[in-house]
Amino acid sequence: MSEMATKTKPRANDIPDHVPADLVWQEDFEEFATAKEDPFRRMGELHDGPDILWMRKSDKGLGGGVSGWLFTRYEMIREALTDTENFASGNERNMMSAIGIDWPLIPIELNPPQQQRYRKVLEPFFAPAAIDALDGAIRDTCNDLIAKFDSTNSCEFVGEFGEKFPSQIFLDLMGMPRERLQDFLIWERGMLRGSPQEVVAFMTAIHDYLRDFVREQHSKPTSALMRGITSARLDDGQPLTENEMISISYLLYIGGLDTVYATIGWIFWHLARDQPLQSRLRDHPEEISRATEELLRAFSAASTGRRVKRDFEFHGVKMRAGDAVTTFLSLASRDPLVFDNPHFVDIDRKPRHLAFGTGPHTCLGLRLAKREIKIVLEIFLARFRNIRMTEGKQHRFHVGSVFGIDYLPLEWDPA
Ligand code: HEM
Repeated sequence: MSEMATKTKPRANDIPDHVPADLVWQEDFEEFATAKEDPFRRMGELHDGPDILWMRKSDKGLGGGVSGWLFTRYEMIREALTDTENFASGNERNMMSAIGIDWPLIPIELNPPQQQRYRKVLEPFFAPAAIDALDGAIRDTCNDLIAKFDSTNSCEFVGEFGEKFPSQIFLDLMGMPRERLQDFLIWERGMLRGSPQEVVAFMTAIHDYLRDFVREQHSKPTSALMRGITSARLDDGQPLTENEMISISYLLYIGGLDTVYATIGWIFWHLARDQPLQSRLRDHPEEISRATEELLRAFSAASTGRRVKRDFEFHGVKMRAGDAVTTFLSLASRDPLVFDNPHFVDIDRKPRHLAFGTGPHTCLGLRLAKREIKIVLEIFLARFRNIRMTEGKQHRFHVGSVFGIDYLPLEWDPA
């Protein structure tokens, strides 16, 4: 057992009585996860300790999450995400309550069967044919954003590409004008990385924009998705209310934003240090889909939360109704009980991971996300040789509900 959980420190006030002292994780999550250059490998050190821990709210306050249970094993995380009898989605307060709004984000803050009613309406727009229809726009977006890199033979991947790419795709998906990209980038940065006041201001700006946009869409929808949302009927024949449409649009915006940029950022951080993989994929682009799955396993950047629904015992540990649970999906995807040599990227292994969660809330946008990643890999690898970290430079990153790269200086050989 690792020292991490067993070092005894005085019991903090926020640790409930039913939590056994030897399961309290004494480290500050953010301090721990950022102590080494690879937060995924670092978090993997938890696999040497208890399978279930109680995590304290991070003192850092940079999105260190809530105080609550943390499961380190693939199987336990899978159970928590599929067992809707014992684990529920959503917190006591919905995310939008931060800006005084009382509706939940649909479908993620709802629970089955209610959640499934809305999800069914949205599924056709994320089905294979719908993603195929977006393929050209995704390629154009990628090519437009990297056009200037031909002359520089280098880039700061996050600022010049990673952040812009998913925002632009969101605009295309929704049928919003591409000229709004700058606004979306400013809102995105403010919402994800701003001060608490900025987060509120930018969340409000996004809400107001989406509200006005949704209102215009009733008479003249500007994309297949918006035509679908405005004309959708739930199973009882009712159309979606205006707030429900805003809520869905809001979730699509935040759901596909830092998750995509973070994942692509980590993938390029890895590729920049794995020349054999780059060469293999350049010579065999048909292997890029398979490689995408393995890279998603290795860099399962998102976490998600659940709440214990009733007092019960989970793998021998007493849980109380209301306890929070955080599932770091990388702990599942790098569990050594499931994957040999889990920190090693091996595109020949059987594709399997929990990067997109599992169960009723499995990522609705996973096909879109995979297509985005595949296209970025195809285009960068075909165009730039020997992509590497810029000499003498180091990446910077943050952890939180998504582990994201903030700074990634890359260079490659001149053509
Ligand atoms: C690499 C990129 C992505 C990752 C790692 C990711 C991860 C996840 C995860 C882990 C969940 C499950 C959350 C839970 O169980 O509580 C989820 C749900 C969801 N994701 Fe993604 N996501 C990505 C991209 C996208 C994209 C591009 C979109 C859409 C534009 C999207 C839309 C959604 C939606 C709507 C849900 C809620 C589904 C439901 O509650 O039924 N995601 N995502």
